Amino acid sequence: MASATAASTEQIAAVIRGRRSVDLYESDTVPNAVMVEAIDVARWAPNHRLTQPWHFYLVGPTTRRGVTDLAVELDVAKKGERAGPVRRARLDAVPGFLVLTMRRSDDALVEREDYAACCCAAQNLALYLWQRGIGTKWTTGGITRDPRFYALLGIDSAKESVVGFIWYGKPKVVPTQQRKPAAELVTELP
Ligand SMILES: Cc1cc2nc3c(=O)[nH]c(=O)nc-3n(C[C@H](O)[C@H](O)[C@H](O)COP(=O)(O)O)c2cc1C
Repeated sequence: MASATAASTEQIAAVIRGRRSVDLYESDTVPNAVMVEAIDVARWAPNHRLTQPWHFYLVGPTTRRGVTDLAVELDVAKKGERAGPVRRARLDAVPGFLVLTMRRSDDALVEREDYAACCCAAQNLALYLWQRGIGTKWTTGGITRDPRFYALLGIDSAKESVVGFIWYGKPKVVPTQQRKPAAELVTELP
């Protein structure tokens, strides 16, 4: 491997630090071809025993209508009628949705490690897209555990489980965030 220059090292650090979960997007849509390029990179995530447990569903317009209706229904049931239009408007303003799933396993350790691998893939995807000017937000709201969500996506919950319902698009607003200083997180052992 060619050794990294200081500039390229700082570049990757800037992408990792700068990526934010995005709530508000411009209306531009992201072509599926771009998302497939991102997935092509995401699949290089580490995965124990090379299980490659991930699958990526790019939500098209028909599926999206069903998913939005379900999200609205769930919100209305939880918060009352007035929550419905707010939820619908919020989701309608998101240019694209992707669902990341992992393969189920009877072995709890394999499932745990496969979930970890899918999380690495999700971050790969987010970082690659961020560098291309596309923001994401990984969500795991109640809808991602609802059997109707699985049915809408044509996913068999005995075989796959949803890791994330990922929003994406060109950011309109990039939120700010904080992290604890590294010094608080590190224990240097003798
Ligand atoms: C596993 C996972 C689940 C998440 N679920 C949600 C969610 O349901 N709704 C949401 O608004 N953000 C969700 N997020 C995004 C976090 O809220 C976000 O990463 C956190 O606020 C830090 O912001 P940053 O990503 O911009 O650094 C999730 C993130 C992860 C890793």
